[in-house]
Amino acid sequence: MLVNWEELKQQFNEKIASADDLNAIENIRIELLGKKGIVSSLMQQMKDVAPEEKKNFGMAVNTLKQNTEVLINDRIAELKQKKMLEQLENEKIDITLPANKKKFGTLHPLDVVQTEIEDIFMGMGYAVVDGPEVELDLYNFEKANIPADHPARDMQDTFYVDVNRLLRTQTTAIQMRALEAEHENLPIKVICPGKVYRNDDDDATHSHQFIQIEGLVVGEGITLADLKGTLELLARSMFGKDREIRLRQSYFPFTEPSQEIDVSCHICGGKGCPTCKGTGWIEILGAGMVHPRVLEMAGIDSTKYSGFAFGVGVERVAMLKYGIDDIRHFYQNNVKFLENYKRF
Ligand code: DAH
Repeated sequence: MLVNWEELKQQFNEKIASADDLNAIENIRIELLGKKGIVSSLMQQMKDVAPEEKKNFGMAVNTLKQNTEVLINDRIAELKQKKMLEQLENEKIDITLPANKKKFGTLHPLDVVQTEIEDIFMGMGYAVVDGPEVELDLYNFEKANIPADHPARDMQDTFYVDVNRLLRTQTTAIQMRALEAEHENLPIKVICPGKVYRNDDDDATHSHQFIQIEGLVVGEGITLADLKGTLELLARSMFGKDREIRLRQSYFPFTEPSQEIDVSCHICGGKGCPTCKGTGWIEILGAGMVHPRVLEMAGIDSTKYSGFAFGVGVERVAMLKYGIDDIRHFYQNNVKFLENYKRF
């Protein structure tokens, strides 16, 4: 039996190459390699081949079969790749369509200012400490040298839970707790941020709830000069490097002497403008040297140790820094107002 193997191979190759999709190549595979396909029928013809030719014939069929399998598999892989590329082409995403806009929140301006102040003091090695908002009269008043009959209590009327407990009026309460806890562990350097509450009527500059950050340093040889240097740094970090501060005598029951600290106006540079009410100075915080009685009440020897303390209102700093005219904006959560602070 005479078969032109070369010609057969050539025919197969052309057929396989002409298949242009996966269906066509499957049909060709069945036609060439299937049970009733050409290669199978050639194998069946083995029985009619003369004995001396059987070996060559068998080898030729096998070679043809293997060759065909390889070519078909290669072509299937090619066509699969082609199909995938076509799909990708058809499924192209139109990136010119307008996107679904996601709304992102922003940091609240009070958080921004509080974090800034905390960062300034953490950089100077202060620890940030917290305390309860429902506070004992003991820490809010008594230990801060404001006994029950003291007239200074009138300035800080608040919401009482019972005779011994109240919503704290000042984060001085946290300072008193910190002093007591650390009195054997001096020096102590802490800042105490937190919400405080007062029985005030709300208006443009007053709120029954606001945020204070108080600071306290107690150790050996702490003087008013340390207080001044520290607060000068705070004022310059918050309001610009050219700011000056001045200390005015004042009164707080827990400090002696006590000061109000003014900073030179960051709007007019000290010449006088509406923000500083024409004076060139803006009052930003209260401060002083810790009263010896406060130290003694916390178990600290006031002949050996001294300290300074200060308290600043976060709303007040934010209002001055960003030129906000009404404290109530902070609490109304008007998105248009809050979005102004995106960039900070
Ligand atoms: N606690 C005071 C207030 O709310 C502010 C203050 C003044 C705090 C002087 C201090 C300080 O720690 O030393 O009016």
